[in-house]
Amino acid sequence: MPESRCLQGIWSSPWIFIFAASGSAVGLGNIWKFPYVLGQNGGGAFLLVYCLCLLLVGLPVLVAEVALGRTVRSNPVDTVNDLSERRIVHKAWVIVPWLAGITGFLILTFYSVIAGWSIGYLERAISGDFQQITQAGAVGMFKGLLANPSEMLLWHSVFMALVVLTVGQSVTRGLSALVRILLPALVVSLLGLSAYSMVVGDMSKTLEFMFGWSWQDITFDVVLAAVGMALFSLSVGMGAMFAYGAYMSKRMSITRACGIVVGVDLLVAILAGLLIFPLVFSFQIDVQAGPSLTFVSLPIIFGGLPGGQFFASVFFALLVIAALTSAISMLELFVAWLHEKFYIARLKAALLMGIAVWFIGIAVLLSFNHWDSKIMFGLNFFELLDELTSLILLPVVAILLSILVAWFIPRTMLQNEMITKQISHFEWWYGTLKYISIPAMMVITLAGWIGV
Ligand code: PFF
Repeated sequence: MPESRCLQGIWSSPWIFIFAASGSAVGLGNIWKFPYVLGQNGGGAFLLVYCLCLLLVGLPVLVAEVALGRTVRSNPVDTVNDLSERRIVHKAWVIVPWLAGITGFLILTFYSVIAGWSIGYLERAISGDFQQITQAGAVGMFKGLLANPSEMLLWHSVFMALVVLTVGQSVTRGLSALVRILLPALVVSLLGLSAYSMVVGDMSKTLEFMFGWSWQDITFDVVLAAVGMALFSLSVGMGAMFAYGAYMSKRMSITRACGIVVGVDLLVAILAGLLIFPLVFSFQIDVQAGPSLTFVSLPIIFGGLPGGQFFASVFFALLVIAALTSAISMLELFVAWLHEKFYIARLKAALLMGIAVWFIGIAVLLSFNHWDSKIMFGLNFFELLDELTSLILLPVVAILLSILVAWFIPRTMLQNEMITKQISHFEWWYGTLKYISIPAMMVITLAGWIGV
């Protein structure tokens, strides 16, 4: 399809795709979720399995999603409809983009609440609340935030308003300016802060915890958590990358672009670990603490840092922007679809979806205080959404999408989509997706479900 027929516009330079996709991948998943999932799953063993999952599952599925998006250059739902009209695939496959969109939508309902915590911490950082904070003070600060639903509602609302306003613009316009500055700034500040944290914290325990491992630490639970984390962190299985692939210039090699995105994503996650864990060990914070880990450690780090008030403000501002560039990609699928299918203005479509997310987000934030009762499988509403999306919906969508691409889309069509010089990349990707990623995801997901 000629590029001029694209409804939303093409990224102004091939590099913008890399920035935008990295902007989607790098977010709270790397800085808030990765450290605590690593802590809960034994450290080094998890990191090792996670790297393998990125290479053998995350990267191939990411390439599949982007390639599918670029072949038809439409929103994911219409892409599959188009392929079925051309009798390439059965129309029942339209279930995949729908499930992907629902997954992204559900993730956004809690993602926005956690992003709201980051805005709350940005406000505290600017007010200098972290200065000389003690461990008890940091724990108290986090508990205080969780116990205050009206404050959480305020920040959740502010964040969703930002998401709606950004998605409401054309994506190519709304994103370009943000991501160019954000990513380098985030990497540089993480490099500086993690170096500082290792000097003042327990570096040797951190290195041993993050990079040491033994065979018996590798269980099915660890592998399932690593697959879920890899998909979440790469924003795969939610149609986000599918939608961004639709805007990608044909001049860009998909495998190379996606390889860079995976590298950036892993780098930021490891730096976040090197930032958080030295403090966790020197203050004997429980590594298994879960979602509170990052929010308790960071104030302590900034509290003792000369110029901490300034650095903390910059860091939390970057974190909020990183969350924003991820969140907008979660809404993009539905907004693009409503816009292209029903000619609803992007801003109106974003507003409709944003209000729905905002409502469910209220239930999520209440599950940290007034409504913390276990509603199913011993989990509260937030935990239920988190596990439902990471351990069930994400792997299922990723498996279905990979099967669709690897087994149903004609090989020549995919080959044409890749840059011809990259034939070895194509063979590697196609073979890995077909014979490693799909079987591995199926076995791991099923084994994880039945609790092997
Ligand atoms: N990859 C994002 C992160 O690590 O924070 C989270 C995310 C973005 C999930 C976009 C889903 C999505 F569609």
